[in-house]
Amino acid sequence: MSEARPVSATTAVEHRHVIAIDGPAAAGKSTVARLLADRLGAMLFDTGVLYRVVALIALRCGAEPSDEDALAHIAREARIRVTPPSQLDGRLYDVWLDGEDVTWAIREPEVGAIVSPVAEHQAVRSALLPLQRAIASAGPVVMVGRDIGTVVVPDAGLKVYLDASPHERARRRYREALGRGSDETFADVLAETRTRDAIDSGRDAAPLREAPDAVRINTDGQSIDAVVAAIESLARAQRMPNGDPVWTS
Ligand code: DC
Repeated sequence: MSEARPVSATTAVEHRHVIAIDGPAAAGKSTVARLLADRLGAMLFDTGVLYRVVALIALRCGAEPSDEDALAHIAREARIRVTPPSQLDGRLYDVWLDGEDVTWAIREPEVGAIVSPVAEHQAVRSALLPLQRAIASAGPVVMVGRDIGTVVVPDAGLKVYLDASPHERARRRYREALGRGSDETFADVLAETRTRDAIDSGRDAAPLREAPDAVRINTDGQSIDAVVAAIESLARAQRMPNGDPVWTS
C-alpha cells in the first residue's frame, strides 16, 4: 500500500512535529487525519477550511469568484478559528468565523461549487499562508491540504500523499450526498470530482502535486483503520536528532 521511502530524506527537517497529508478531494484525508491526530496527541488542521470560508464570505457579500483582489481582501480580513469538535453531529472540528459556527455552512454545495476557482488565485493563497505557517510552527499538528508538503511546510517531518481513483472518491462523496438527502446523481458527483481534480492540479499557483519525498498511499479498497495504522507506524519511526522518537504519546 505504501512505498517504503526514507522519511524526509531529501529536505532539512525543521517542522518535525508536522505531518503533511496532501491529495485530491475525497481521498479520505480529513477522516484519516482526525484519527491519526487523536492517536498521536496532535492537533488537526484541515486547510481546505480556509478556502471554503473565503468562498462562503464571497457568496454572502456578492464577490465574484474571479475577483482576485476582493477575494484576497476577504482572506486577509477573515477571522477564522478551527477548534476541536464541540458537538457529536459528525463534525471532525468546529470552524468559527467571527464567532459564528460555520462548520456546516462551508460544506454546502454552493460553497463547493466556487471553492476551487477561489483557491486558484495566488493572492488568496498568499493571504492564507501566514496563518497556516503559524499553525505549523505551533505544532504538533496533522495538516491536511493540497500543497502542505510542497509549499506550506516543505520541511514537515512526515509527508503523505493520499490518493484514490476518481470512481472510488466519487462513490464516497455520493454516499455522503445520499446521507444528506441530496438528489445529486452518481454521474453528477463523478463529473464534479473530475472537474475539481482538473482545477486543483492544473492551476498555476501551488497546484496539487506529490512532494518528491512524500510517501504515497492509495486508499482504494483500504479500510480507514489500515490507512491510519500505516501512517501511524511511519510517524512512530520518525526520530529526533538525538535518536528519541518524535511521537511519544
Ligand atoms: O479539501 P477541500 O475539499 O475542503 O478543499 C476545498 C478547496 O480548497 C479545493 O478546491 C482545494 C482547495 N485547497 C487548496 O487549494 N489548498 C489547500 N491546502 C487546501 C485546499
